[in-house]
Order: sequence, then C-alpha cells, then structure tokens
Amino acid sequence: MAYSDKVIDHYENPRNVGSFDKDEDGVGTGVVGAPACGDVMKLQIKINDKGVIEDAKFKTYGCGSAIASSSLVTEWVKGKTVDEALAIKNADIAEALALPPVKIHCSVLAEDAIKAAVSDYKAKTGVADEGYEICK
Ligand code: FES
Ligand code: FES
Repeated sequence: MAYSDKVIDHYENPRNVGSFDKDEDGVGTGVVGAPACGDVMKLQIKINDKGVIEDAKFKTYGCGSAIASSSLVTEWVKGKTVDEALAIKNADIAEALALPPVKIHCSVLAEDAIKAAVSDYKAKTGVADEGYEICK
C-alpha cells in the first residue's frame, strides 16, 4: 500500500518520541491497543498549572500510519487545553494524513490515546471523569 507523503514524513522523522516519568506531577499517560492488529500506542502529556499541555511524547509499536498519527497528535496537543485536546477527532487525523480506509483504525488509536492520557491525568489530580472507552 502506498503511504501519503505526510505519513512518510512523520514515519521517517517522528516528532516527540520518548517518555516522561508517569509519576511526575502533571503527566498523564495513555496506553491503548488496537485489537484488530495488535499495535500499541503510548501517549503522554505534560500539563502545566494553567491547564495547558506544554509537552507531549509518544512511543508506538505499530504500523507507519499509527506512528504518523501519534507523531502528528503530539504536535497538535501542545499549547492546547485538556478540553481542546479532547476535541481532536480521528477523522481530523485521518484527513491530515490522507489515510486510506483500512488505516482509519490507526488514527482511532491516536484519538483513544489522547483520551486515555487525559483520563489518567484527571484520575491523578482527583478530577471526576466520565471515563472513556476504546473501540472494540
Ligand atoms: Fe483498531 Fe479499534 S479496531 S483501534
Ligand atoms: Fe493497526 Fe495501523 S495497522 S494501528
């Protein structure tokens, strides 16, 4: 399958690869897996005392589209509030990367990873959260 230029760019030069200490204040960690293919994505956000995401990192064991999706969203979430980050939809990611239909679930993984990271952050800071559910 042909990857789009944007996927190849993020795949070859992934942004923000790495980890934060998950126990550090302000860090939210989301780990999600795709049942369809077994790929796993870890996305972490670091939130400052104004509620703004000042940094983000990811590690993805998965296909090129999953790596590109996580790389892209780490760029997107920086400078956003938690609520703004939650508004990122997999369709936006898929469109930005020109993902073909069989690769849509890779962008779903990135949306789920953001939600999981925010949920973890809220749980750590004691904020009530409705929770999230990854797709089955
Ligand atoms: Fe791939 Fe849901 S089937 S993330
Ligand atoms: Fe499963 Fe891309 S093929 S995450």
